Amino acid sequence: MTTIVNSWNDFDPLKHVIVGRADFSVIPPEEPATSEKVPIDSEMRGMWGPRPTATVEAANEQLDNYAKILEGLGIKVDRPTPLQWNQAITTPDFRTESGFTQMPPRDILLTIGKEIISSANSFRCRYFEYLAYWPLMKQYFDEDPEFLWTQAPRPRLTDKSYKHNYYDEKISLEERLERTAAKDFVTTEFEPMWDAADVMRVGKDLFIQHGLTTNRTAMEWFKRYYPDLRVHAVNFPGDPYPIHIDATFVPLRPGLIINNPHRRLPEEQRKIFEANDWQIVDAAQPAHDTPPPLCYSSVWLSMNCLVIDHKTVCVEASEVHQMEQMDKLGMNVIPVPFRDAYAFGGGLHCATADVYREGTCEDYFPNQVDDPTLV
Ligand code: GLY
Repeated sequence: MTTIVNSWNDFDPLKHVIVGRADFSVIPPEEPATSEKVPIDSEMRGMWGPRPTATVEAANEQLDNYAKILEGLGIKVDRPTPLQWNQAITTPDFRTESGFTQMPPRDILLTIGKEIISSANSFRCRYFEYLAYWPLMKQYFDEDPEFLWTQAPRPRLTDKSYKHNYYDEKISLEERLERTAAKDFVTTEFEPMWDAADVMRVGKDLFIQHGLTTNRTAMEWFKRYYPDLRVHAVNFPGDPYPIHIDATFVPLRPGLIINNPHRRLPEEQRKIFEANDWQIVDAAQPAHDTPPPLCYSSVWLSMNCLVIDHKTVCVEASEVHQMEQMDKLGMNVIPVPFRDAYAFGGGLHCATADVYREGTCEDYFPNQVDDPTLV
């Protein structure tokens, strides 16, 4: 079968996907962007180096099993080519002591129609992560004559891209929440920086989370690069570490989104959804009180699901409340064990990137209102 690259959203029937791998994953040393990301009470503070082999093997076992489940649904699954991440990264502008992983392709690859764009990440340790996907990109380029293989402008990631002394060990959770609500993040607006997982694609509309990993300059870049799409800036004030939209605001099908109840979309930003009869419902509570050890993400990976089509969704197998809610919302649930992989880069959605979903670029928000999110 030759490749077709095409995907406009996260809910149309999935036919071809990339699933990450945990090989050679490293906990990177602190750097201006990540010191803010690692929670102050995390056991990862001050620690860096290759992840223990037994945890890599356990993660890979669940990733391989996930790939098999997807293949069983008739979905073509590709895997990245691991690189040895335990080596220093040097550019003319910075040096950092290691790379990271190729477990979460969702952070690196953004599929919009027939184009896959490699992102402009703000973490220095992720500067060369795209290389793990380049063999696949070349294959798609060879096999699909319409595939657009794109690299976003590469940020230089000098000190100008980060606020100095932004991180302060003594800051309380309340102060942190005040800062993020005021859209005061560690990244500056010096150059466009963005993680692909901050972008929620809904056909003609891109909803992009402004947070620790994606800035407003990136949204301006998207607006100019895609003049036919509408770019919306959204933020979620209840999140003390706002990175990536997919454990916060997750579309299940046209007209339905689940929203993290601790990170509700502010009232004025809901107008565009209300005007177009989209329902935003609180996601179910996570089944766990804490994330697994050495994990960057929160317990809200419970809602980081992979929608297979408008009626089918993969949910982490221990997330009983989320599975029950999906069932009530009319979705058939496929349980996938995945907690051993969480620490390597997130949940079921994070661990994938779309290559092909059936469907075209629909306008799901034809009623344009006075929309404060519009960039
Ligand atoms: N940003 C992903 C999480 O909630 O942990």
